[in-house]
Amino acid sequence: MEHELVIVLDFGGQYNQLIARRVRECGVYCEVKPYTTPLAELKAANPIGIIFTGGPNSVYDPASPHYTSEIFQLGVPILGICYGCQLIAHSLGGLVTPAVDDSAREYGKTETFYDTSCRLFQGLPETGISWMSHGDYMAKVPEGFQLVAHSAACPNVAIADEARGFYGVQFHPEVNHTENGLKMLHNFLYEVCHAKGDWTMGDYCKTAIASIRQKVGDGKVLLALSGGVDSSVAAALLAEAVGDQLTCVFVDHGLMRKDEGDEVEKAFEKWNIHLIRMNEEERFLTALAGVSDPEQKRKIIGEQFIRVFEVVGKQIGAVDYLVQGTIYPDVIESGTGDAAVIKSHHNVGGLPDYVDFKEIIEPLRMLFKDEVRQLGRELGLPEYLVMRQPFPGPGLGIRIIGDVTKEKADLLREADAIFREEVAKGGWDRNINQYFAVLTNMRSVGVMGDGRTYDYTLALRGVTTTDFMTADWARIPYEILDAASTRIVNEVKGINRVVYDITSKPPATIEWE
Ligand code: XMP
Repeated sequence: MEHELVIVLDFGGQYNQLIARRVRECGVYCEVKPYTTPLAELKAANPIGIIFTGGPNSVYDPASPHYTSEIFQLGVPILGICYGCQLIAHSLGGLVTPAVDDSAREYGKTETFYDTSCRLFQGLPETGISWMSHGDYMAKVPEGFQLVAHSAACPNVAIADEARGFYGVQFHPEVNHTENGLKMLHNFLYEVCHAKGDWTMGDYCKTAIASIRQKVGDGKVLLALSGGVDSSVAAALLAEAVGDQLTCVFVDHGLMRKDEGDEVEKAFEKWNIHLIRMNEEERFLTALAGVSDPEQKRKIIGEQFIRVFEVVGKQIGAVDYLVQGTIYPDVIESGTGDAAVIKSHHNVGGLPDYVDFKEIIEPLRMLFKDEVRQLGRELGLPEYLVMRQPFPGPGLGIRIIGDVTKEKADLLREADAIFREEVAKGGWDRNINQYFAVLTNMRSVGVMGDGRTYDYTLALRGVTTTDFMTADWARIPYEILDAASTRIVNEVKGINRVVYDITSKPPATIEWE
């Protein structure tokens, strides 16, 4: 099925992915394209609407990104946001200048007044807070446009040419700080572009399965399953599409969390696929014995992954297709197909370069993370897999400070499971993006019963973040920390002290190693 398409033309703004997500939330499929995309390509894609994003530049700067004015002759509605709004004004004969006095420059939450007879603001309250972030000012509005919103400081907050379906807003409707922002995007899509709203995950799932079947034919498909959300959802999709032509390789390095290996295996029981689970605890622990340098540990684990795949490769022979769990943010950020492949190659965690295959399949390439989760649900994956937090490829190997032994891995697995249980019990599992326990290599004195103990200190870590590049430590309620600490010290022999990590990233990283 062909979906209605909206194109988000990217001029370098910081919220571009968010715009695309919001459009999809409204039930309309959209893709982000760089502003360098030729007009012929945009036209061929036959969009029902185009959105110009924000960007850090000033339109009057000749070096700033522009687009050919012929785009306004396509007969397709256009919404410009922030820089995109100024670009519309600039391209169609208006005048954009630096805000002469500071008061016309607006940043942050701004009380805004809307003309609700304009289709963009139809059905909205006449006043609301909008999120502004612009230093330029539309001194002259282009011919055919009307002013349809203003603020105390700025008369030209939004412009509209209703006849041609061109709209520009100086603020960001896609961010939550803008009251009714989603409704404005909805109005643009449904009132102006006349969208039908045919983007649902159920439909996507059916279309994706059909196109995978067509592509793969009776070919053989290989997927490296890590147990993370992306590879699990990709595996479920391929399993549904090609069943026993799919071989999934899951390497259990003995450094997984409690019951994780069994959970992953169980989740795929219902599909008729070849799931090869390689239980390689001994191999990994032997290779890691006595090594305490974090980088060396990572390298050893990566190398051993490759050794395991070599063994599996010999068993399964040549494959036609290799599946990778690349998702849309990777594609947008890399900007080129090539870079996306390099990144996803890294994601598969250790496939040797010479695995013999004809082509790569990236079935999640056009989906955002929340859509990947939705697709997983659609395919019947259990909630604990679909909502799983990120888990590093080297696993507990980099959460055991110092040398890694089976005893330490077992201690940490138990303690980590208790922490996760208590966080979930307290209802905080959805508030924290990543949380786990770290076994430090420090021992301290304690007293239990009448005896002296000299055991390990365990650190708990919880962070909130959107991109994992920066993170804040999670303000987990004391009651939850208390319950976790009490249970861990009582139930896990070998740990007699629990601390909570209250460092953000930067200056710390999320993981300890
Ligand atoms: P850091 O510790 O760099 O972690 O703040 C950022 C995010 O990346 C994850 N992480 C890894 N994931 N292999 C992975 O697949 C790794 O070697 C690795 N190291 C860190 C980490 O869990 C966090 O989500």
